[in-house]
Amino acid sequence: MAFVVVPTSAITCAYSISRSSSRQSSQGYDSKTMRKGLSNTRTEQFFTQSRRTIYNNKYNSKRSATNNNKNKSFYVNAAKASSGGKFVVGGNWKCNGSIESIEKLCATLNSGKITADVEIICAPPMVYIDRVQSKLKPPYQVAAQNCWVGKGGAFTGEVSAEMLKDANIPWVILGHSERRSLCGETNEFVGLKTKYALDTGVKVVACIGESLAQREAGNTLKVCFAQLQAIADCVSEKDWDNIIIAYEPVWAIGTGKVATPEQAQDVHAGVRKWMSENVSAAVASKVRIQYGGSVNAGNCDELAQKPDIDGFLVGGASLDGDAFVKICNSAAHSK
Ligand code: PGA
Repeated sequence: MAFVVVPTSAITCAYSISRSSSRQSSQGYDSKTMRKGLSNTRTEQFFTQSRRTIYNNKYNSKRSATNNNKNKSFYVNAAKASSGGKFVVGGNWKCNGSIESIEKLCATLNSGKITADVEIICAPPMVYIDRVQSKLKPPYQVAAQNCWVGKGGAFTGEVSAEMLKDANIPWVILGHSERRSLCGETNEFVGLKTKYALDTGVKVVACIGESLAQREAGNTLKVCFAQLQAIADCVSEKDWDNIIIAYEPVWAIGTGKVATPEQAQDVHAGVRKWMSENVSAAVASKVRIQYGGSVNAGNCDELAQKPDIDGFLVGGASLDGDAFVKICNSAAHSK
């Protein structure tokens, strides 16, 4: 069954569907205040309907997946459980750069030697994607850093998945913690966006990760699993072929405080186990899980050796062409 298309009038803005209770972001925004004054009735109707459609799809496909998997055995072996897929490194350029600096970065990337067997995805700011796509040579691919939850229309400032598809942009990063915390994107919203992008033919790097407070409270896996569940609730088993999971502990993003290889490996192994128990053994064995959070040219080789780390999502260091090439080549250390 086709995914329900967002009626133009149904959604006023992303904030209006935020399910979180009144929440103060690090920028001082209060998601409840943002919602105040917005008419939510039709939005609520849309999401109720979407959830019901997705639930029915999931229920039917889960039943057939269970039957298909009945006789297959699978071990989530933390010693060697990583995906069979290619090591994949993403460069999240965030809201950085100018035409001049970005052209320089493209030139450095093009002249750097990629010697490892690695898939590389660069995500420039939206306004520069076209330029970057025309400058970067293979193996570099491009991604958008976000897209809208449904079909385009009267959504000022947004970009639809159809537009990404039309512009030959193969990937989109969704659910980055900066969008979750600064723009009020909920787990559920990220799940719906993921489904819509995939149905439109755009592949997704889906970000998950816990805050420092959540880690210190011992809730790391609980938080990551809830974020994954919201995606799993929306997508089919087949959709996972076109999803990369990026585990990015919020406390390690842009802080210079990288997770130890062991900390990252533990969460990656937990995520893979969760996938095997809640999606399927087949998906768990092949889904690629990137680590993100202060990855740099100095720590990438050691992290890459961990069996469940299948790549990186790199922020700050991806703006330094030479460092990024080095990070991409750390794929040679992957086990
Ligand atoms: P960082 O960012 O490498 O600067 O920590 C990673 C990310 O946010 O994707």
